[in-house]
Amino acid sequence: MSTKHKRRIKYLALALAPAVLIAMMALVSAISMDSPAVALDQPPCAQCHTNNTLIEGKATAWANSGHGTGTAYLRSTNASCAGCHSGGAFSAMVAAGQSPNQVTTGDHSPTRQSCRACHQIHETYTGTDWALETTAPVGLYAIEGTTFDGGSGNLCTNCHQPRRAAPVGVDGQVTGISSHWGPHHGPQSSMLLGTGGAALEGSAAGHYTFVGDTCVSCHLGANDNHTFTPSVAACTTCHAGASNFDIGGRQTAIQAKIDQLGTLLVNAGLLSSTDPAEAHPNVSSAPEDQAYALWNWILIAKEDRSKGVHNPAYTEDLLDASIALMQP
Ligand code: HEC
Ligand code: HEC
Ligand code: HEC
Ligand code: HEC
Ligand code: HEC
Ligand code: HEC
Repeated sequence: MSTKHKRRIKYLALALAPAVLIAMMALVSAISMDSPAVALDQPPCAQCHTNNTLIEGKATAWANSGHGTGTAYLRSTNASCAGCHSGGAFSAMVAAGQSPNQVTTGDHSPTRQSCRACHQIHETYTGTDWALETTAPVGLYAIEGTTFDGGSGNLCTNCHQPRRAAPVGVDGQVTGISSHWGPHHGPQSSMLLGTGGAALEGSAAGHYTFVGDTCVSCHLGANDNHTFTPSVAACTTCHAGASNFDIGGRQTAIQAKIDQLGTLLVNAGLLSSTDPAEAHPNVSSAPEDQAYALWNWILIAKEDRSKGVHNPAYTEDLLDASIALMQP
């Protein structure tokens, strides 16, 4: 269903809520004849709009999340940002079977990544509308021939995928570096797959192969936590006794290498700061070895930000290779 169609229904629901309610009560009785899962005494709206906290509980958590508080949705007036940054444009993009780089119009009434972006809210007006907007495998558009197929984490991957492939030097140089250079802010999916770094390909993480719903298993967990912040409880099924994310001291080891590489890049005049929130490239071109190291630091420290959890082996291999590339 198109977003426009959805909006029209929403408007009707507001204006005609009582009439819609009566009509839907009749409808659900009819559906229930051959669908015993729908309780006869439950009008469809009340499957969600109950007096308890079904909606409100999730809405409260969501309102404190990055999706609920960030301001990057305002970028969606630009067509090349809309598919990932506006909830409404995302729904329209999914309905049209497009990937983010195929969206041709900006959204001039952008919405956040809200309930309606991820769930099929107000399509049938029954509880089945909690179904996710899409869980189809995602071909990563920036990295040709790469598909992410990680259960319901596929939903997240539509947006949390790189916008650019790693650079390849020409005659030993990489040009076209700007302050916004890098894979863009959501390369967590390609990191799980072990691709997207410069000068080195890896392999898929255990966290891609064995964690059934990938992003959703760790970031929402068994209780469908809508802060989207991972919890240690999601780790202990496999890492018995874990009390934080620094399992086997791996995050500490990786953070030390991030700091080492960051200092090398700052000292060489390539990077403005070792603080990921502030850091941006200081150059517009560089010898390829240095450019690869710069790309990998941005990918790991500024964009992926899991300190290795998404793919411990690939992250560490990229850091080791990059530190070696920075040796004179
Ligand atoms: C799948 C669960 C679900 C069902 C079934 C459902 N709604 Fe909703 N409804 C929602 C959610 C989620 C919101 C948005 C809540 C938020 O943004 O905090 C919402 C919001 C609303 C709003 C507020 C205006 C708006 O669109 O945001 C109205 C009015 C509304 N619903 C009416 C109805 C009516 C009438 C029915 C039955 C015909 C119905 N809903 C069925 C989940 C549902
Ligand atoms: C419609 C695109 C879209 C989808 C789908 C999506 N995200 Fe996001 N996500 C974003 C954007 C855009 C931001 C940044 C918001 C901002 O800063 O304004 C974000 C932010 C986040 C953050 C916060 C990062 C921080 O710095 O605090 C987390 C965590 C996150 N997403 C995880 C997920 C997970 C897990 C899923 C799947 C259940 C998911 N996202 C689905 C687009 C999306
Ligand atoms: C493929 C999907 C996608 C496209 C296309 C996209 N973004 Fe993003 N963007 C994201 C995701 C996902 C995040 C949040 C990632 C995270 O927090 O790890 C994000 C985050 C951001 C942020 C917040 C960064 C911060 O430091 O808080 C800005 C600003 C931003 N994007 C700008 C843009 C602009 C401008 C465009 C268009 C020129 C654009 N994005 C296109 C997916 C996308
Ligand atoms: C970034 C994507 C995302 C956003 C935004 C989001 N959800 Fe969810 N939600 C999920 C995922 C993923 C699940 C896990 C269920 C699944 O895998 O089908 C879920 C599960 C739920 C469930 C449990 C559903 C069930 O079948 O029992 C409810 C209720 C829910 N969400 C409500 C909301 C409400 C209300 C909002 C808006 C305030 C919202 N969600 C926003 C991704 C999202
Ligand atoms: C094995 C569990 C696991 C899987 C699978 C996973 N993550 Fe993470 N992710 C984490 C942990 C743990 C952190 C945070 C590490 C920390 O804060 O020290 C994190 C960090 C992040 C961050 C940065 C959050 C911030 O506040 O800076 C984003 C965004 C994110 N993950 C999105 C995703 C997306 C999207 C997927 C799927 C493509 C995914 N993750 C898959 C465990 C996981
Ligand atoms: C479904 C099982 C599973 C879950 C759930 C899981 N992991 Fe893992 N984890 C693995 C496997 C398998 C490996 C080893 C393979 C690899 O490194 O890719 C591993 C390795 C690791 C490592 C490297 C350990 C070392 O000794 O160097 C870290 C760190 C890690 N996981 C963190 C986490 C965190 C944090 C969570 C929860 C947010 C989590 N894992 C959830 C299966 C899991």
